[in-house]
Amino acid sequence: MRVLLLHGPNLNILGKRKPEVYGYTTMKQTNDMVRARAEALNCELIVFQSNHEGELVDHLHRYLGECDGVVINPGALTHYGLSLRDALEAVDVPVVEVHLSNIHAREEWRRISMISPVTIGQVVGFGARGYVAALELLLAHIAEVRPAGRT
Ligand code: DQA
Repeated sequence: MRVLLLHGPNLNILGKRKPEVYGYTTMKQTNDMVRARAEALNCELIVFQSNHEGELVDHLHRYLGECDGVVINPGALTHYGLSLRDALEAVDVPVVEVHLSNIHAREEWRRISMISPVTIGQVVGFGARGYVAALELLLAHIAEVRPAGRT
């Protein structure tokens, strides 16, 4: 079982960026936490962060047919990243969208996600713990719909 954990723009500065909204947990701490859970669940986790939409698209193309699911916090690309949306759709595996903050309780424009229509669901508002929950939910979903895994 191979899962991609993708982080979009500005998430590399987690811990320093508006901690009252996004928390004090850094990107490294977040990734370590998710990696530990993935390992316990026998899942290979491939982590990638970029501040550039095209790089996220390229990364998804690299794993076309080579991954079983995606956990992604697209950052602000959530609200306008149509090429990222299309790449997620093209990869054709279950996707879980994560947001550290509760985007539905913030500015109006943050409530709109271009990504949601190509996901199985969203985990929002639970800070860094949301990524672990997202991974668990994704793996449970995959086990349910495709008990044998990718190959
Ligand atoms: C975010 C919410 C987005 O609106 C914002 O642009 C981010 C972070 C979140 O995790 O809460 O960069 O995705």
